[in-house]
Amino acid sequence: MSQTGAHIIAVGNEKGGSGKSTTALHLAVYLLHQGHRVATMDVDSRQQTLTRYLRNRRTTIEASTRQIPMPKHVHMPTAWGDSIRENQVVERDMFTKAIAGLRDEVDYFVIDTPGFDGNLARLAHGFADTIVTPVNDSMIDLDVLARVDPVTGEPIETSPYSRNVQKARAERLAATGAGIDWVLVRNRISNLGSRNASQVQTTIERVAAKLGCRVADGIAERVIFRSLFPIGMTVFDPLEADLLGGAPSMSHVNARQEYRSLVAALRLPAPARHDSQAEMVRRSA
Ligand SMILES: Nc1ncnc2c1ncn2[C@@H]1O[C@H](COP(=O)(O)OP(=O)(O)OP(=O)(O)O)[C@@H](O)[C@H]1O
Ligand SMILES: [Mg+2]
Repeated sequence: MSQTGAHIIAVGNEKGGSGKSTTALHLAVYLLHQGHRVATMDVDSRQQTLTRYLRNRRTTIEASTRQIPMPKHVHMPTAWGDSIRENQVVERDMFTKAIAGLRDEVDYFVIDTPGFDGNLARLAHGFADTIVTPVNDSMIDLDVLARVDPVTGEPIETSPYSRNVQKARAERLAATGAGIDWVLVRNRISNLGSRNASQVQTTIERVAAKLGCRVADGIAERVIFRSLFPIGMTVFDPLEADLLGGAPSMSHVNARQEYRSLVAALRLPAPARHDSQAEMVRRSA
């Protein structure tokens, strides 16, 4: 468990469009549906995809008679002063205050980070207990984690993003004795088994071994994800035809199963309040 009490999950990858925002919202909503208290934080101040996704969700909820859960959401703006040093201090202050302000109210934070390096992205990775890195299912996207020998397929050199994550992990380990769990997830996996797909799987496992992180089973490429953003929904929400403009399909069911497997693979700690509730039940038995 983190220094803050709530478990912090940062979804990160400096490669743009790898599925960070989609994954962040799905993780958050799945945990909400499991009865947990969840806060989301958007530190991608340029695109604000998660913030806009949740705004769409609010609109859908207001027009609906169904019970649809909503996380507590914080959007973290970039500081725009003249001094980089001062901006960093201001951003750190805002970030730590946002976490501290919600730490006793939620069980999990899910933080969406931008597809580029920056102070807020580093703060999110540095504060995380679990880092989830979605990787698009292609060798080009793996290159953002490590440079791979084109002949042998061996990872030769870690990338700047991986080095940042490793630095955050080393600092956490030195400070608290507990590391940051880092999990890679293949995203948008082609349904057609191909030579590329098996090459990506073999290589991602080698890269993970080099980086000392884990690989979770991936999420398939599914058209359904395109229709979810405008209504702010996830595959875990009540997906009736009137919301989606079409009947829910096997694709929803399969996508749910994949995200469930992902959360299981993350091995998130049970929230402390659940532990104490379980203890009370044991004592009264
Ligand atoms: N499993 C999937 N199947 C099909 N489309 C997907 C899947 N996951 C994500 N997408 C689509 O890929 C696009 C990029 O996803 P998303 O915005 O989540 O990526 P991102 O990593 O947050 O991007 P950025 O780096 O720009 O913040 C979106 O159009 C999203 O709907
Ligand atoms: Mg995004």
